[in-house]
Amino acid sequence: MDNSGFAKAFNDAVDICSSRFFAPIPAVWRIKRSLNIGSEKKLKESIKIIDDFAFEIIKSKAKQEQYDRIYPDWRNQDLLSRFMAKTSSEIEFDDEAKKRKFLRDIIISFILAGKDSTSTALTWFFWLVNGHPHCDRLILNEVATLDPTFTYDDLKSLNYLHAALSESLRLFPPVPINSRSTVSDDVWPDGTRVSKDWFADYSAYAMGRIDKVWGPDCREFKPERWLHGGDGVFKPSDQFKFPAFHCGPRTCLGKDMAFVQMKTIVVALMREFEIIAVDGGATAEKMMDPPYTLSLLLKMRGGFLVRLKKRRFNPN
Ligand code: HEM
Repeated sequence: MDNSGFAKAFNDAVDICSSRFFAPIPAVWRIKRSLNIGSEKKLKESIKIIDDFAFEIIKSKAKQEQYDRIYPDWRNQDLLSRFMAKTSSEIEFDDEAKKRKFLRDIIISFILAGKDSTSTALTWFFWLVNGHPHCDRLILNEVATLDPTFTYDDLKSLNYLHAALSESLRLFPPVPINSRSTVSDDVWPDGTRVSKDWFADYSAYAMGRIDKVWGPDCREFKPERWLHGGDGVFKPSDQFKFPAFHCGPRTCLGKDMAFVQMKTIVVALMREFEIIAVDGGATAEKMMDPPYTLSLLLKMRGGFLVRLKKRRFNPN
């Protein structure tokens, strides 16, 4: 939401990169890139804006580092400052430019990984909750138990909300399809043979809707399935059954942070407003044919239109 052009450049770059995946004839974008025309020219310009923005952040953090050395008690503890401290002390670079580029890539990958994924997840969450008023009520009851100056530990006590967010990610994983390409011939544990340079994709969206995995009610939004112990405490699922954050060694690094962000936003919004989906939210009929559009992320077709109604009383 800044006016430096960064946000627009970032969105343009993501859109142009995803359109490459869906191009019927990949040679076309490659030709455009080599001639520096059309969307590929725009991508190059956007990348320049993004890089400059990231380098500016690095510059300002470097200044901050000098200041921190003089006033160590006020040291900056944000993620990038920690990365910068680590790269200075533990990683060797041939020159300063390579180090700057490494830090730039860290910044961009974190923005890319954390920005649209969390907002896409919240979009589907509010849409689903809108169509399931009893879930809305249960979340609101839980939110009402929090002190207005809630802490990180307080957020951990929101078991029903955690279950509802997980259920929403199961049905609408923001990264719906994940691809890998093979570096060499391989045989998988089940005996499947794959050759070098093959693509292997899995769909987290489809996996969340397989009845053998999630039961005959797999297409229904039921946060209760994550609270099956009977004690109201959230029970995590096996990561390979629930790959919304990917799984194995390259699993999402920001998973815990994403839950903290999502819970904080839900609590802050639901305390103040009733969020009313203009399309009525996730009715049983719409659940059969959800309004998604496929890009790198599982976005809502036409965006999520809502009315915000100020709550007359604070749930606290
Ligand atoms: C609901 C929100 C989120 C979802 C659904 C999500 C999902 C994912 C998925 C599926 C991957 C694997 C991508 C791949 O390898 O192809 C991934 C990787 C990653 N995510 Fe997230 N993510 C979320 C939020 C965040 C946040 C908030 C951050 C950090 C601020 C973050 C940081 C990362 C990073 C750094 C990786 C790369 C890990 C690696 O390759 O080793 N994510 N995420």
